[in-house]
Parts: sequence; C-alpha cells; structure tokens
Amino acid sequence: MVKVRIEGLKKYFDKVKAVNDINLEIIPGEFVVLLGPSGCGKTTLLRCISGLEIVTAGKVFFDDDNITYLSPKDRNISMVFQNYAVWPHMTVRSNIAFPLRIKKHSQSKIQEKVAWAASLLGIDNLLDRYPTQLSGGQRQRVAVARSIVMEPKVLLMDEPLSNLDALLRVRMRAEIKKLQEKLKVTTLYVTHDQVEAMTMGDRIAVLEQGVVQQFGSSNEIYHNPVNTFVAGFIGSPQMNFIEVEIVNKNDKLYLTTKGLEILLLDIFKERVSRLSDKRKYILGIRPEHIYVASNKPVEKVASIRGKVYFAELLRSDTVIHLEQKFGLLGIKAPGDLKVEEGKELEALIDLSKIHLFEKDSHKAIF
Ligand SMILES: Nc1ncnc2c1ncn2[C@@H]1O[C@H](COP(=O)(O)OP(=O)(O)OP(=O)(O)O)[C@@H](O)[C@H]1O
Ligand SMILES: [Mg+2]
Repeated sequence: MVKVRIEGLKKYFDKVKAVNDINLEIIPGEFVVLLGPSGCGKTTLLRCISGLEIVTAGKVFFDDDNITYLSPKDRNISMVFQNYAVWPHMTVRSNIAFPLRIKKHSQSKIQEKVAWAASLLGIDNLLDRYPTQLSGGQRQRVAVARSIVMEPKVLLMDEPLSNLDALLRVRMRAEIKKLQEKLKVTTLYVTHDQVEAMTMGDRIAVLEQGVVQQFGSSNEIYHNPVNTFVAGFIGSPQMNFIEVEIVNKNDKLYLTTKGLEILLLDIFKERVSRLSDKRKYILGIRPEHIYVASNKPVEKVASIRGKVYFAELLRSDTVIHLEQKFGLLGIKAPGDLKVEEGKELEALIDLSKIHLFEKDSHKAIF
C-alpha cells in the first residue's frame, strides 16, 4: 500500500486554471473521492497523477518517491476512464490480459492473473465474448478487471459508473467499494454525484474551480461545511441560504431578516461574540432540519409560518417550498404528510442545527 502526496499541484491550459494549487495527502489503502461540478478539474487532477498531463507546477509523491516526471508506464498505476474504453475488437480475456501482454508476462502468468481478476469481478463465464455481446454493467466489470490485473499501487477511477442506469450504479458502487477493501489499493475516485461520494469515500475532497474547498469524511463535510459552496453542494434538497443580521435584544442574540428571528443558542454564542453586528451574514438551514409543526418537533425551535408555494413528492419525502418575506424556504417532510398548495403552514426550525457564514468571504463561522 502506498501513500500519495500531492504538493502545490497546478495545471493550466493557457488561461484556464484547471488545477490550481492542490495539496492532498492520501493515506495508504485509503479510498478518496474527488467530488465537484463539471469542469472543476477532477479529470485533469487524475491525469496529472497518472502522468498523462505534464504539470504546470507542483509535485506528486508515491510514498517518498517524487514521481512527477515519471512516464505513466513506470508509475505502477491504473486508470479507469470516464468513458470506459474496452477494446471492441478484443475478447474479454484479451482485454483483461492486455496490460500483462504489454509488460511481457509469461503465458501461464497471464492465464493465472486473468482468471484471478475475472473471478473477483464475477465475469469468469464471459471471457470469450466480445464487448458488443455484453451489457453495460458487464462491460464496466471488464474495465475494472483490466485495471486491477496488474495489481497497481494506485487505482485512479474517473466517473466509472456514469454510463450505467441508476439501479446498476448502486450495485456496482457497492462492488467497487468491496473490491477496493479486499485489494487494499490506494484509490482516487472521481464523481460529481454526492451520494456516490458519501457512500464510497473514506474521505472526500470537494473541488471547485481547480481548488480543494474541503477534504474530510462525509460526516465532516455534511455537518461542518467550511463554506457556502460545500454547504450548498452537499445535501439534497439544497441548504437554505438566508441573508441575516445579528441583533442584540435584552442580552440575547438573534439572527434576523424580514419575517424571521432566530435565537442564537449558547452553543454558538462564543463563535459570534467577536463579530460585528453591523456586518452581513448568511444563515444556512438544511431542509431536513425544519419540521412541519404536526410532525415530531425537537426541543429548541423557531416557529415560522407561511403559505405553501409548491410541494413535490421526492421518493419518500415531501419537499415543501414555503413562502417567506425573504424568499422560499425549503423543508423536507415525510412523504405521507398531506400538504396543500396555497394553504398556510407552521414550520419549526431546529435551532441547534443552523449554520452561519460570512457574507463577503462565504466562509463558515459555525
Ligand atoms: N486539454 C485541454 N485544453 C484546454 N482546456 C482543458 C483541457 N482539458 C481540460 N480543460 C479545461 O480545464 C477545466 C477542467 O476540466 P476537467 O476535464 O478536469 O473537468 P472535470 O471536473 O473532469 O469535469 P467533468 O465533470 O465535466 O468531467 C475545464 O474548464 C476544461 O475546459
Ligand atoms: Mg471529467
């Protein structure tokens, strides 16, 4: 198992800063997910690590070896590409054997390794077929089998499940995760799907515009997002963002805007005591931390009333958009809750679960 260290990595394409000063340390055997919107630099970062791109600046280490300028074939890595390429003119067996052939392994070694990889992926019975005779999920397994057959030190996967239907994605997600745990290979896995990231990653690096915004466990990223970008990117439906001021009334602090007054609990007071009450802040409330009054209220809440602008059933949840003076407030309620559009509703905000950000820097205060 190898440690991967990325130091001050930059990759510019003319004026496009695809990767802009990335620092990451990935512990041996870890499964790290790179998560971010389209164009944020995920593929470019993987290509820099694999040696397919020449970096503009910075270094990549495998353990203590600086491999920044090593050719891809000498890095002992394997990459599964965004549009997984299995060669159509080769059988499954030849596809999986290909990396071994290139390295001129003996025929018996090739046979042994192909059988090993194929059985790990459960495709032993497909070895003599051609890719056109396979389903999408089976083709995907071939691509993964080919990527592990050399027992790489580092496995790089670029949205390997993006071409599969929803059901198959969920199954392959679990299979890839289990396989990685079995092989204990240090893995970087790219996706723009937050559920995939949260379920698979030991840690997740959230990227935007070539910069790592936050690197941590899915719990840390969900509960303690460092800025409004991460807070808004993780969680569905999206966190409510409301511009507020801090007001002191009878020695109690409130976050206020038109039609909303949120008492600051003692647990947060210390964080805001140094802040000026003249400045603007952004209050963040996740839709799942607002309860419809008839439904299991928590202890310390702020009550808020409004008309239901729109309600939609999303799997087992009802997502309610409640009209407020400051805009619409998203609420995630149970799916069996009956709500009528246009009717008035009382909702309760869990005061212990709120977030506060600085308006100018977008950084989290808590
Ligand atoms: N060869 C290239 N020449 C010029 N610009 C490039 C090149 N490759 C990538 N870019 C630019 O670099 C940025 C990052 O691209 P990249 O492919 O790494 O994004 P990504 O996060 O993988 O996106 P997606 O989720 O859509 O695959 C984009 O603005 C892209 O247009
Ligand atoms: Mg990409």
